Amino acid sequence: MDIRGNCLALGAFLAFVGAMLPASARAQEPREFAPSKETSRAAWPKVPVRAAKGMVVSDEKLASEAGIEILKEGGNAVDAAVAVAFALAVVEPEAGNIGGGGFMLVRLADGQAKFVDYREVAPSAATRDMYADTDEPSSSEASLIGYRSAGVPGTVAGLALALKTYGTMKLADVMAPAIHLAEAGFPVSERLSDLLSESSGVLGRFAISRQIFLKKGAMYEPGEILRQPELAATLRRIAKNGPAEFYKGQTGHDLAKEMQREGGLITLEDLSHYQAKIREPITASYKINRHDWQVISSPPPSSGGIATIEALNILEPIELKSWDDPASVHWVIEAMRRVFADRSAYLADPDFATIPVRGLTSVCYADAWRKTIDPASATFSQQMRILNPAAYGKSDSSGTGCPQAAEQASDDGSEAAEARAVAEAGRGEHTTHFSVVDAAGNAVANTYTLNDNFGSGVTTMEGFLLNDEMDDFTTHPGSPNLFGLMQSEANAVGPGKRPLSSMMPTILLRDGKLSFVTGSPGGPRIISATLLSILNWMRLGMDAQAAINAPRFHQQWLPDEVVIEANFSDAAKEELVRRGYTINPQPKWIGQVEAIGIDPQTGERLGAPDPRRNGFAAAY
Ligand code: DON
Repeated sequence: MDIRGNCLALGAFLAFVGAMLPASARAQEPREFAPSKETSRAAWPKVPVRAAKGMVVSDEKLASEAGIEILKEGGNAVDAAVAVAFALAVVEPEAGNIGGGGFMLVRLADGQAKFVDYREVAPSAATRDMYADTDEPSSSEASLIGYRSAGVPGTVAGLALALKTYGTMKLADVMAPAIHLAEAGFPVSERLSDLLSESSGVLGRFAISRQIFLKKGAMYEPGEILRQPELAATLRRIAKNGPAEFYKGQTGHDLAKEMQREGGLITLEDLSHYQAKIREPITASYKINRHDWQVISSPPPSSGGIATIEALNILEPIELKSWDDPASVHWVIEAMRRVFADRSAYLADPDFATIPVRGLTSVCYADAWRKTIDPASATFSQQMRILNPAAYGKSDSSGTGCPQAAEQASDDGSEAAEARAVAEAGRGEHTTHFSVVDAAGNAVANTYTLNDNFGSGVTTMEGFLLNDEMDDFTTHPGSPNLFGLMQSEANAVGPGKRPLSSMMPTILLRDGKLSFVTGSPGGPRIISATLLSILNWMRLGMDAQAAINAPRFHQQWLPDEVVIEANFSDAAKEELVRRGYTINPQPKWIGQVEAIGIDPQTGERLGAPDPRRNGFAAAY
């Protein structure tokens, strides 16, 4: 099949983008991209935590324990997940939140799987050029810091919707641990102490942030107790009055007034119109070593589920041996390159754009992409031509009825790709993923975020940090992003619209039974880290903890470089260079995957916390 004849050229655009990337993409490196700390690796757990009944794995011990308490009280995985999320809003303030948004994937023991989308939306006064008009792409401050960078928060609505629909307990009961932690306080970890001082510049610009998180300039030392009475009072009101408190009650009124006073855009009307949505997850099936696998993942406005299924499809017939094997790494890098190009061209909020989901996830489309991969040498992103997934939307999912070359060519696709392939700005370390499995086999994978470290830097009068999720839109159409990540015109800012996300809580089934619960923070690296955890578990048959500890690598189309972790073998690295890859010279940790596997023999829950941060598995 002649792929070239059916491809869409992005040459001029790519040259433009390529020229712009280095300066703006690296001007404000997110802290996540700090060099890996090699020293702690000896202490990494070698085996997962095993338990017969319930398991909660999150970034923070206190939050994992809050979830286990709820399970022990008879709550199900969704009750526990909501408790963990509220607890993280207190003990992991840089990422856990009630002022941000995210995604919860629920898979009940009866087989039902649903995706709760509580992504933030742009306020009604938001406009396509609201940041482009006022801000230099290289500084990108207006979409990252302060009141105007915040989208309408979705967390409270999403957690309440999940609890009401799939949980069994009362909101007040699952919020009790969070309220206690906010009121009584908790000891600041070394990590939080470091993060607070690293972010003191931004936090110090906002009076309430300075007062709560910087002790008016004195800084928290590890072990000191951080109390958040204003947040405790807000959580109490939400526990008593329900989610309407946040969107229409005193909290909403106070937030809207503060926004008006400080030049933000979110109004009481925006808050009262916010809706979390229950969507169908995106799924794909694979036969591996005589087992039937099903991947259940995140649909748009996440890009992660589609990207991952696309990559798994491309890699399906490829023999993967290990990450010491350069050929295996080569194939995965090339799959990543292609799915990130598609992410940039085609993905956005499905309520505002038509997304060729069927085409992107079809095996025929993966076949076409695979044929563009040279197994011996790196593809150069600037020379790579992207494909038109719309032409594959009707193809036979078995791969036997793939469209012929002539059917794939499409002017329509070409225009769409060129028009959409513009850049967005974005950055940030702090998102948080947690996984929960209960005794009955119900499972939750939840990823939520403020976007950047401590979001916008603004703590409201009500004691919660506000997101800077507006930066996930294509804020500067035509300019590259801080990550060098490209996004589409379809992802331009628009009132009521959800910005495209990489967050991708994911659940795997093996022979119809729950097998693996996974997800990660990391901006675009969410997709690579989560994909690798899936490949490690499903394709390479690694044990749950090994699947988390294994070295990670990342390629996102543009910039055309491979980011690898320090635990990657030198021999494999040298061979990749020989094959033509540009390796980012600074090894970096990629993602923070908090996963749970299920032992297929015993049914035991295998808690696999990620040692790259403070991952903690609590179990009973
Ligand atoms: O939704 C997204 O894709 C980003 N806002 C996530 C940011 C992130 O993961 C930062 N950190 N780890």
